[in-house]
Amino acid sequence: MRKKIVAGNWKMNNTLEEGKKLTSEVINIVADELTDDVQVILGTPAIHLDSVGKLLKDAPKVALSAQNCSEHAAGAYTGEISAKMLTSVGAEYVILGHSERREYFNESNEQLAKKVDIALENGLTPIFCCGEALEIREAGTQNEYVCQQLTESLFHLSEEDFKKIVIAYEPIWAIGTGKTASAAQAQEMHAAIRAHLTSKYGAAAEETSILYGGSCKPSNANEIFAGKDVDGGLIGGASLAARDFVEIAKSF
Ligand code: PGA
Repeated sequence: MRKKIVAGNWKMNNTLEEGKKLTSEVINIVADELTDDVQVILGTPAIHLDSVGKLLKDAPKVALSAQNCSEHAAGAYTGEISAKMLTSVGAEYVILGHSERREYFNESNEQLAKKVDIALENGLTPIFCCGEALEIREAGTQNEYVCQQLTESLFHLSEEDFKKIVIAYEPIWAIGTGKTASAAQAQEMHAAIRAHLTSKYGAAAEETSILYGGSCKPSNANEIFAGKDVDGGLIGGASLAARDFVEIAKSF
């Protein structure tokens, strides 16, 4: 059975106090209302991980994620944060290759392959993001583009390591724009991603959770999650309000 996952990506939002309040609200609503088969994840700014992690200790249904890690193990990389540091404060997941990091911080597929490796070596589960910009979709080459991202960053992995990966498909034109991919567009791309993963890893790809991200909200999550290859969501804006976020997690 593929894991159903709803992961919040707070991005660069929330002070520590705001983040702790939001976490407590999510924990309470999840405990009261969510069935056991959905994994909820909070992707907080790195500086909040330790405090949020402490709040999550007694909340087994909610896990902790970072939003990035260095591709280096340790050393003279001022301002960077290593995978080992993330594990040491209780992070279980790390979002890698988000389109904002690819665009604003020039992260390449090759660099992301290294980040995936070091995350896995340190026991973190990568939530690996892929997705195309509007001009690529308009040119009709989105499947090739996304498959190449997967090939170049993931296909060096052994089957054993590949099985630990979560994928998030995020059409860049739908992130933070209020524009959502239609449920059919999401399912079509998720099926293409799974077929590509299957071409390399065979049956193991049937077990890979593929999340949709891009203006997912309580009003559209149900329709999007109905796609047979859509196993949940990576949620930006709507993860900043506890009620909206958990409503999305209840939308399977
Ligand atoms: P959004 O962001 O839900 O605000 O569109 C999704 C993401 O970037 O992870």
